[in-house]
Amino acid sequence: MIIRRVCEGDIESLYRQRLCAFTAEETAELVRAAVEEERGSESCFFVAVDRGDVVGMTTVRRLGHRLCRHRAELGGFVIVPGARGTGLARRIVGAARAEAYGWGCSVLELDCRGGTDAEAAYLGLGFREWGRMPGGFHDRDGAIYDDVRLWMPTGDEVAE
Ligand SMILES: CC(C)(COP(=O)(O)OP(=O)(O)OC[C@H]1O[C@@H](n2cnc3c(N)ncnc32)[C@H](O)[C@@H]1OP(=O)(O)O)[C@@H](O)C(=O)NCCC(=O)NCCS
Repeated sequence: MIIRRVCEGDIESLYRQRLCAFTAEETAELVRAAVEEERGSESCFFVAVDRGDVVGMTTVRRLGHRLCRHRAELGGFVIVPGARGTGLARRIVGAARAEAYGWGCSVLELDCRGGTDAEAAYLGLGFREWGRMPGGFHDRDGAIYDDVRLWMPTGDEVAE
């Protein structure tokens, strides 16, 4: 298992594993845009690859506002069902933390739907809640969730 930056060779596996919930064309466009955006910018699309198959992904991006340059945000964090609960989530977050730390960011943050397994996993990984908007997410199926904002330091002071 390795965790590295995405490349165009991952498009077929990302689509086949249904990690992005996009069509094949949308997946290809997403990867090409990410590869292009990464050139010289503080954003990164990480994939976890096991025997040639992409089994996990996340993006991490430094915030652009001048008051928020010390913060980097995770997005699109997904692990294929067969690889969940194996410690991979901790490794992917570790890679994102190290990247953000290297950019000079002291904060890694994300948001998620309240009351979901993802919220429990993020708290288990060491993220701390700093904000919650009741009913902040309305899903297409009619379900309503809180929008929960979480953060952790990128440096070593965070308890592993
Ligand atoms: C969110 C997601 C990436 C987390 O990955 P995961 O493999 O399920 O996470 P893990 O099971 O490794 O859990 C991470 C940590 O939280 C802990 N944890 C998970 N659920 C927990 C719970 N209910 N109570 C307490 N701790 C919990 C785990 O023990 C683990 O800690 P450990 O590494 O010390 O054992 C994954 O579930 C996923 O892809 N979900 C679908 C997509 C999604 O919802 N993405 C989030 C969008 S915001």
